[in-house]
Parts: sequence; structure tokens; C-alpha cells
Amino acid sequence: MAVSVTPTIGVFDSGFGGLTVLRALTQRMPQARFVFVGDTARLPYGSKSRRTVARYAAESAQFLVREQGAQFLVIACNTASALALDAIEEAVAGAVAAPVLGVIEPGAQAARAASQTGDVLVIATDATVQSHAYAAACGALGLRAMEKACPLLVPLVEEGWTEHPVTEEVVRVYLGELLAEAEARGMNADTLVLGCTHYPLLKAVIERVLESLSGPGNPDRGNSIGSAAGRSMRVIDSAESTAEAAARLFDGQGLAQKRAAPETEIRCFATDSVEKFERLGSRFLGRPVGKVELLDLGG
Ligand code: DGL
Repeated sequence: MAVSVTPTIGVFDSGFGGLTVLRALTQRMPQARFVFVGDTARLPYGSKSRRTVARYAAESAQFLVREQGAQFLVIACNTASALALDAIEEAVAGAVAAPVLGVIEPGAQAARAASQTGDVLVIATDATVQSHAYAAACGALGLRAMEKACPLLVPLVEEGWTEHPVTEEVVRVYLGELLAEAEARGMNADTLVLGCTHYPLLKAVIERVLESLSGPGNPDRGNSIGSAAGRSMRVIDSAESTAEAAARLFDGQGLAQKRAAPETEIRCFATDSVEKFERLGSRFLGRPVGKVELLDLGG
């Protein structure tokens, strides 16, 4: 299909987390125009069924394509990518200029590029873990993956507690369990995939905790004898790899056209409090989100 002079890329997530993907996308494709939907009224997706997530995701996708004129779609949410990519593709069939891009495949590709041992760990929402989308995507690339649900992390990020002692303690418990279990299974994991777009906001905490968990005989790791697994772990943020994949996938379809605007145009919609979105969103986006518009997608 024909692409207008300024291509529009629609990006959506259940909340703020997808803004980390949007940030990476704007850095790679500053010439595009971006429309973002944060479905904050219906968050979290990570504790909901496939059917519900598919309905929510299809509604956001249709809004972006039909009402905002997006020719390209990036699903900046692991849960929606894992559970609803087919439903989204069906909802916008024939109306987009390239395949709908999710975050799972680019995340798995980045893990393959990073891992020396072939053993990777994935932290994600409950629904993403239950779907085993990462295990399948990693397995197809010859990697062995162990997934762990960390359901408390999204609410902590949405609360803005990205550098809070409570968050650090929660991360310590989750990662301590994960490393101990991986070791008990005889895995030699060297890569941790952040399988939720909210988690890159916790990257500093996660790296600090991994470092501290790598000490000898650490009690948080059960009877572990303190290998250097935590310290040497590569942490994969799928925002970066998704933006790279998007640039590859969408380029040559109109995005190579440059425009003169000094700053990339971003329009943001939220399905709940726009004030909160404006307040917290800038931290995720790395620049002011500007005026956020309220969107009603129904119940
Ligand atoms: N950002 C979503 C993801 O990447 C998770 C948030 C939620 O549970 O809605 O999976």
C-alpha cells in the first residue's frame, strides 16, 4: 500500500513501559511520526487471559490504524506480543504496510547474540511466562530458556518506584529464586532477558542485585556455593533490539524519506489519568511526553 510523506508508526502497551520502546524507536527513526497508546485503565495485561488480552490489544491496534492512520505497528508489550500477535494481525489485516512487530522475537534474537553458553533466563509477567513464548522463540534459535513470572514488578514501576528499597528487595527475592533454580537444573545461564517492557526501568536495580547475588554462599541463593553467574550475566533490554528490528522491517517502505522537522512528532494517548501519564511518562521516554490525550476504548 502507498505510504504518506511522513510515515506514522503506531506503538502500544498496557501502560508506561512501552515508552522505553518508543524512545528507542524515535532514536532509530526520527523522521517518522509516532502515535502511542498506553492502555492504563485496563493494566495489568499480565494477569489476564489470552482472550481478554487479545480483545484489548486488537482495540488499541484498530484505533492506531483506523483513527490515527498508522501504517506500521509495534506491539511494545511482551504480554500482548506473546498472547495476541495473531489477533492483532487479523484486526489490522490489509491496513498496514508491513508485518506487525512484537517484542518477543527481537528479544530472543538479542539473547542469542549475547549468550556464550546458550542458557538464558527470562523474567516476565505471569501471562507471558504461561504462554512460554520466550522458551519457544529461544528454543527455535538453539537456546535453552528458563522463564520466571515477576508479577509484583509492573505495579512498582507504574508507581514510579524504580529506585525504591522495596523494589530492590522484591527484585532480590525473584532473582535469588531464579538463579538458585537455574543452578539446580544444571543450567549455566549467562544472559537475562527483560521480558516485559516495564523492566528496563529497573535495569540499574536488576544489575546491582545480580552483582550482589554473585557473592560466595549468598543466603538468597539457597545452598549455592557462589558462582559468578550473577556478576557475569548480560541483561537484555528488548526495547533496543525491537527498535533495530523495526528499522530493518519498516525501512525501504517510506521511512527512508527524511523530513525537516527538528523534533520527532509524538502523540500520546492514555486510557486513564492523563496527568499521571504526563508526570511519569517523561521518565520512561527520556523527554517530555507533552500533552497526553484521554482515550476511551470501552471496558
Ligand atoms: N508491559 C507489559 C509487558 O511487556 C506488562 C504490563 C502488564 O502486565 O500489563 O508484558
